[in-house]
Amino acid sequence: MTRPGDAQASREADANGPAPVNLADHEAMARNAMDANAWAYFSGGAADELTLTANRQAWDRLSLLPRVLCPLAGGHTRLSLLGRQLAHPVLLAPIAYQRLAHPDGELASGVAAAALGAGFVLSTQATTPLEDIARAVQHDPGRGPLWFQLYLQHDRGFTRELVQRAERAGYEALVLTVDAPCHGARDRERRAGFHLPAGISAVNLLGMRPPPENDLAPGQSALFDRLLHQAPSWADVQWLQGITALPIVLKGVLHPEDARQASRLGVGGLIVSNHGGRTLDSAVSTARALPRIAEAVRGEIPLLVDGGIRRGTDVLKAIALGATAVLIGRPYIHALANSGATGVAHVLRLLRDELEIAMALTGCASLADVAPELLVREFQRDDR
Ligand code: FNR
Ligand code: LAC
Repeated sequence: MTRPGDAQASREADANGPAPVNLADHEAMARNAMDANAWAYFSGGAADELTLTANRQAWDRLSLLPRVLCPLAGGHTRLSLLGRQLAHPVLLAPIAYQRLAHPDGELASGVAAAALGAGFVLSTQATTPLEDIARAVQHDPGRGPLWFQLYLQHDRGFTRELVQRAERAGYEALVLTVDAPCHGARDRERRAGFHLPAGISAVNLLGMRPPPENDLAPGQSALFDRLLHQAPSWADVQWLQGITALPIVLKGVLHPEDARQASRLGVGGLIVSNHGGRTLDSAVSTARALPRIAEAVRGEIPLLVDGGIRRGTDVLKAIALGATAVLIGRPYIHALANSGATGVAHVLRLLRDELEIAMALTGCASLADVAPELLVREFQRDDR
């Protein structure tokens, strides 16, 4: 099956080998397309990368129990999320510093997402002004939702202005990331001596006053006695609710109690995420965390999930476990590095095609048919 996005991706791939036919092919190609500095940043996880690995394995360990002879004609992947109709349930996760992967950076990702009807979440640490992305995609009638990911900054006045800029530019929700009050132990980055090259920076944070550098008494910790004084809390979620009318989606929730607390506070949704295994190593995989969170919030708020989603069948499994939609992170950065906007569009096209195939072969004509009964849980690889 040839699609518009395939032709360009194929041409670019021909120079290096066969054209990519799945997300893993894009990853393999990207390894050659990126330098060691960028590769360490984009592909790495924290510490021993146990969570990075577990995210993938957890999807693989779920098996599907398909139904046959179901009526499938007229089926579709549509859904509604935060009051909008979406063509399909795949969004692009916020990823910082995308001009490290390709000169077109976030603009390419945003335009590709819009063209493929996918949601796009712009990182606080984007290397492109947030207004430029909004301007480029805003008037595309087929685009998916445009959300702004927020890291609360030590300068709350600056944070408020950033939120107001995002509102004015037309962003439709704020994704508050709560699982990274500090970086994880990033061994791969340290080994590679990771640095931002000249000309690449978090441009939306320019002009912010530097963080206070209080003196540390002997025995004090730079983390607990300095950085974490600025860490966000539940009170800050309420502060944010007080300064914006936009829905707030909390990203990085794994514990059912936190999910319940968020729901009680009236947040717009949750992203079940462990930051792609980049913050707490040994954190539970998202496929294992999701069902307990779904049970805890009982459909009160929409749940999204990310981490290790690489196949249409992974998307199907996530929905069967209670997600409304999913996000992908590294796969679209690989495609961006390989061939810019065309590559990102190609990855989205591949995933949507795979999802449609998975739905058809499990007997699901719409996402509403994707039920927990589709899954055989805790099936060990050797039992298959
Ligand atoms: C991220 N992630 C992330 N999350 C966030 O809220 N703000 C950010 O700026 C970033 N930046 C970022 C950079 C890189 C290089 C990676 C790999 C990840 C986390 C991201 O949004 C998402 O949760 C994971 O990437 C999902 O896992 P997969 O799909 O990469 O396995
Ligand atoms: C990261 C930060 C930017 O994961 O979220 O690199």
